[in-house]
Amino acid sequence: MNSALAPDSGFVAIAIDGPAASGKSTLARLLAQKLGLVMVNSGSMYRAVTWKALREGVDPHDHAAVIALLHRTRLDCGDDGTYSTIAVDGIDPGEELRSSAVNANVSAVSAVPEVREALVALQRDYLNRASIVMEGRDIGSVVFPDTPFKIYVDADEHVRTARRRDAGEHDPVAKRDAADSGRVHAPLIVSEGAAILDTSHHTIESGVAAAIEILKQQGLKLA
Ligand code: DC
Repeated sequence: MNSALAPDSGFVAIAIDGPAASGKSTLARLLAQKLGLVMVNSGSMYRAVTWKALREGVDPHDHAAVIALLHRTRLDCGDDGTYSTIAVDGIDPGEELRSSAVNANVSAVSAVPEVREALVALQRDYLNRASIVMEGRDIGSVVFPDTPFKIYVDADEHVRTARRRDAGEHDPVAKRDAADSGRVHAPLIVSEGAAILDTSHHTIESGVAAAIEILKQQGLKLA
């Protein structure tokens, strides 16, 4: 296994951003495996708050209610040495984080600035413990704006919709992307310094190879 070395010493953050079903999770997971880093799924954190809101009957569009829910929730964000893990008040929601109901409501919850502030702090904390590949929407723009290692992963909308369908998931990707890109706080953007990788016509293997080339050009040294 290779290890990724920062240009200076210390932990490295590789930021992978992009719209829903662009292939960023698969790419982040495989990059982390190849480089010997921990893969952190920041979307799971927004999904976890949404999951609890739905369980408690809290309206995801009611900002005050979502903030109150956040304040009475304990989120434990860790990792198993390979992937990030999350527990909500001591419970791992598992696959329920990817339910249709969570898919349909997570954009509303993630538009609440207080939610973002709390979760960004948890995301940054990972870098105190390990070198990471973190995927999300604002990792290169807000969470780790100073990292030199940034990739914006994209794919045609029909390719992204088909990927979700093939995975047996109902996910309104276009609607979710419009909400995630159009929100006021930390919208999905191509952050400064990010290289764009369009995975529409890549296989998984060729996509990972292209990402590694990009990271090398951005200065990542592989041991
Ligand atoms: O990556 P994902 O599809 O699991 O993310 C779920 C939602 O969480 C996404 O629609 C927007 C939100 N999100 C965000 O606002 N910022 C992030 N860094 C990651 C996800």
